[in-house]
Amino acid sequence: MLDRLLRDWDGERLILRRDHPTGAWVVIAIHSTRLGPATGGTRMKSYPTVDAALADALRLSEGMTLKFATPGLPFGGAKAVITVGSELDPGDRPGLLRRYGTMVGELGGLFLTGPDVGTTPDDMDVIAATAGEYVFCRTVEAGGAGDPGPYTALGVFTGIQTVCERLFGTGAVAGRRVVVQGAGDVGGPLIEHLHEAGAEVAFSEIDDTRIARYRDGLGVALVPPEEAITTRCDVFAPCALGGVLDADTIPGLRCRAVAGSANNQLGEPADAQRLRARNILYAPDFVVNVGGAMAMPGIESLGWTEEQARKELVEYVDRTLRRVFAEAEAGGVSTDQAARSMAAERLKAAGAAGDRLRDALGARSAW
Ligand code: PHE
Repeated sequence: MLDRLLRDWDGERLILRRDHPTGAWVVIAIHSTRLGPATGGTRMKSYPTVDAALADALRLSEGMTLKFATPGLPFGGAKAVITVGSELDPGDRPGLLRRYGTMVGELGGLFLTGPDVGTTPDDMDVIAATAGEYVFCRTVEAGGAGDPGPYTALGVFTGIQTVCERLFGTGAVAGRRVVVQGAGDVGGPLIEHLHEAGAEVAFSEIDDTRIARYRDGLGVALVPPEEAITTRCDVFAPCALGGVLDADTIPGLRCRAVAGSANNQLGEPADAQRLRARNILYAPDFVVNVGGAMAMPGIESLGWTEEQARKELVEYVDRTLRRVFAEAEAGGVSTDQAARSMAAERLKAAGAAGDRLRDALGARSAW
């Protein structure tokens, strides 16, 4: 299994470590340092097997490289996955996070992290206590920029407008039907943007508090989780977990376009072709979900104001998506393929300079 996984992964370094006190496994997949320190969130959940956790980390790490490379941001791609037994005692969590922070600290800046599925800015505070400066998105009280979700949601909202413009000749979402799968950290604020702009929104969710917030609080229609993908709409926005678009589900889609925040929405590369064959416009996940990953390092490392971060990411998502759609059309390829080619060009162009810089820094920095 490991052999096969690694054969399909063109990354640089894989760290696999057991946390003895809890039995958790920590995976840090450093996919690329070509454009800068390898950066990616820390995902914490229970996987059925360590293989499954590894596979997720490897794929997600590549997604982060693409995410930063396409806009030309000075970060490489990585992802950490902590697979905990489903019975992790809440009292054991801070210790696990602190030990994980020590690991991140030991990497000396090779790997920078932030929140992802299953971790929060509060967790980043705990990790930063031992990892130091290599952690984005600590709470505002602790001096960080806090929750990246609203920034990611703004980027996805922008992507949906760009998609509408492409399909209908106007980017206005008023009256457009949008189904948001998952009302979490990103799906929630996305629902609010869409609702405010007059879209006809429906959402699926399993958490009762969130259901109450959007169905009862905002009056947004709720659809059962198993129907989210097959509900007729203009735009389907996957904002839960990845892998929702595959040979089994794509035939059941009843949307004109897909644009959402989940990482790795396609089960396999061929799914981009399946969408194209059905004439469903796909906004590549790593293009439209860059908001948090762009805003937080921007604010915390590059000195952007929050307003500047919002402006940068809105402009970037709109401009890039337009280019992706145009190049896909011109080249007769899927939008996913067009976006990957754009990222590959950046990586290639930066390669020589990046390699030289790395050599020069070699003596002083792990990166
Ligand atoms: N979950 C974020 C993403 O997938 C990870 C991230 C957040 C990385 C903030 C860096 C900073 O894009």
